[in-house]
Amino acid sequence: MAKTIGILTGGGDCPGLNAVIRGVVKSAIIRHGWRVIGIEDGFDGLLNPAVCKPLTLESVRGILPRGGTILGTTNRGNPFSYPMEQDGVIIHADLSDKVVANIRELGIDALVAVGGEGSLKIALELSRKGVPVVGVPKTIDNDLRETDFTFGYNTALETATDALDKLHTTAESHHRVMILEVMGRYAGWIALESGIAGGADVILIPEIPFYIDRICTAVTRRSARGSRFSIIVAAEGAYPSGGCRVVAQEADERQTIERLGGIGQFVAKHIEQCLDMDVRVTVLGHLQRGGSPTTFDRALGSRFGTKAVEMVADGEFGYMACLKGRTIISVPIEDATRDLKLVDPQGEIVRTAEDLGIMLGR
Ligand code: F6P
Repeated sequence: MAKTIGILTGGGDCPGLNAVIRGVVKSAIIRHGWRVIGIEDGFDGLLNPAVCKPLTLESVRGILPRGGTILGTTNRGNPFSYPMEQDGVIIHADLSDKVVANIRELGIDALVAVGGEGSLKIALELSRKGVPVVGVPKTIDNDLRETDFTFGYNTALETATDALDKLHTTAESHHRVMILEVMGRYAGWIALESGIAGGADVILIPEIPFYIDRICTAVTRRSARGSRFSIIVAAEGAYPSGGCRVVAQEADERQTIERLGGIGQFVAKHIEQCLDMDVRVTVLGHLQRGGSPTTFDRALGSRFGTKAVEMVADGEFGYMACLKGRTIISVPIEDATRDLKLVDPQGEIVRTAEDLGIMLGR
């Protein structure tokens, strides 16, 4: 029987989202002859059915190399706790019944939710309310459980490694300490793997609280060996032992989670106090989320998209597509969102970094 699939992209954008959308649309239409409806701006779009439009083969033509998402997204709209103004104050309303009613009104038989931990938790709640949901894992942070990789991560790594290569030449010329601040709120995957690939001397990640005096000693030792420059990569969520994360903007009624930023400057200030060296900071920021996806992310996004359609055909609702080894399989969304996939401070990748002489701040 012909079906109608709704697809939305939620949370922060990342390269490869359009590959997933294209994969869903193409396989739904070409293999099954189904209809696809694109939902704009994440779950917000389900509160306003007028912005939901059919996606055809023409709609997805040429989008494979494009960054971002043609559907738009938001990392604010949670229909179970939706910020609304009432009598001059912000309240959080549960609009999930309206979302479920709109899904029915749109004639959507299955919803494909592409998102990170936050969006997939919302998808899970909707599935508990009876909505047939299939999840697709997305985030540049690569911190989702039950999948070896999320799409977007590989592109972000390329961007960060390229930045490290560029910082190397100028650091060496000026005999400076160069600090690169990268994304990674709770998980240090981007800092760790780009740091290894980009030949960093110090890598600071949220999973290993750092000691500033030990970082200064490492930089001094390098200078004594004749390397008069050092490269430090710091995840935005890294923090000193006994201290806390550096917050750029506190959470408020609308933005439920605080915005991180400033760890690079924090480390720079302390290094300048103990070493007689020039220090400069580069914050890579949203450059890591933008741009054309790498080959790996295009292929992974496409495979996740077609797998999501196969899962709809098989009635595997409440499940998420994921990559295990070289194979795409499915796992319960509940298992994938139970907690975050963090770097193991005693694990193989950290050991590799330390065997290469990279200092992890401890
Ligand atoms: O989850 C992805 C992420 O890039 C985090 O690493 C970062 O803390 C956050 O998004 C930034 O989000 P925003 O787009 O709201 O600044």
